[in-house]
Amino acid sequence: MPTESELDAITLDQLRAVPSEKWSTYPDAIGAFVAEMDFGTAPAVRRALHDAVDTGQLGYLSGPPVARMQEAYTGFAKRRFGWSVDPERVRPVPDVLAAFEATVRHLTPEGSPVVLPTPAYMPFAPFLHDLGREVIPVPFARDGGRSVHDLDAVDAAFARGAGLLVLVNPHNPTGRVFERAELEALSAVVARHGGRVFADEIHAPLVYAGHAHVPYASVSPTTAAHTVTATSASKAWNVPGLKAAQLVLTDDDAAETWQRRCTWTEHLAATPGVLAHAAAYDAGEDWLADVLAYLDGSRRLVADHLAAHLPEVGHTPPEGTYLAWLDLRRYALDRPTAWLREHAGVALADGRHCGAAGDGFVRLTLATPRPVLREILDRVTTALTTERRGA
Ligand SMILES: Cc1ncc(COP(=O)(O)O)c(C=O)c1O
Repeated sequence: MPTESELDAITLDQLRAVPSEKWSTYPDAIGAFVAEMDFGTAPAVRRALHDAVDTGQLGYLSGPPVARMQEAYTGFAKRRFGWSVDPERVRPVPDVLAAFEATVRHLTPEGSPVVLPTPAYMPFAPFLHDLGREVIPVPFARDGGRSVHDLDAVDAAFARGAGLLVLVNPHNPTGRVFERAELEALSAVVARHGGRVFADEIHAPLVYAGHAHVPYASVSPTTAAHTVTATSASKAWNVPGLKAAQLVLTDDDAAETWQRRCTWTEHLAATPGVLAHAAAYDAGEDWLADVLAYLDGSRRLVADHLAAHLPEVGHTPPEGTYLAWLDLRRYALDRPTAWLREHAGVALADGRHCGAAGDGFVRLTLATPRPVLREILDRVTTALTTERRGA
């Protein structure tokens, strides 16, 4: 399992030597924009992939790998979240966005708008526009430093005819891990309008001590009946290129419709990916525990650094995910990410792509060796304190 010093020892040269979106898109900058970790993956996942190659399991997706994934995921959900799920209701999909597309197309009233709490994971809004759906953005309200759902605004959006709410938990980009009571309150609003929830729980395994992931569909029979849950091993075990994810159908009607209209989506999942996900859920938790402990230290490093050197940057440490959401509005930068790429040599994700509520914010992926993270923080600090002084 990776030790802290092993993760610390990974160098920028090593990272740049492996072709990846994170390290090749901006060759002159340190890449911290895409949600990928710089720590490889768990030994169990690597073994499963080698085994898939060695035994020739490279064909179209078939029953046995799906059954392995279903058993592995239900075991993991029970152990980790206390959530009992019927294995048959765990469906393979190639990725969360494919599950989202199928959900919008087939499990919401035709043409109905979609409620999107913002700031939101970047692709949701353009994706919905491509599907011809109106997006009703609902900016998060603030409770102290925390982002919380604006229930009145969600209520108003459903009253306008929305059919679906996108609930991302743990939340990208804010890092919130919503509490049971918050989910209950949200579910009362959804249920009042007969709406449905797409629960994107891709970051569910990445939650820090002091917080607990509560699967939305597990909250009550009501939430189970109006939710489709999408999850994946891709963030926690760092394998988004393997094209596998899981859709959990706790609603009988949705399961029936899925069976009738959406099984083509299942065939887009990759056999080695499905086997790797099974291995991650079955035998990857020790690796994950070490990585989470490291990430916990890294999120503290970010918070401590900002408090000490950049107190004008608004920041609430993430409760889950390995994303730091930084409020740079005080610096009045026209295009913060472009400015930081030019002046700090650091490539971050642009909050503006998360909706108007993200304007003036940037998202930093902190799942990188701590020496690299320190370099990122130092560069950003130097740029903001020297180049922006008096601005
Ligand atoms: C909240 C959220 N949903 C979905 C995705 C994309 O998942 P996938 O690659 O499975 O489509 C990401 C990737 O970062 C994400 O953060």
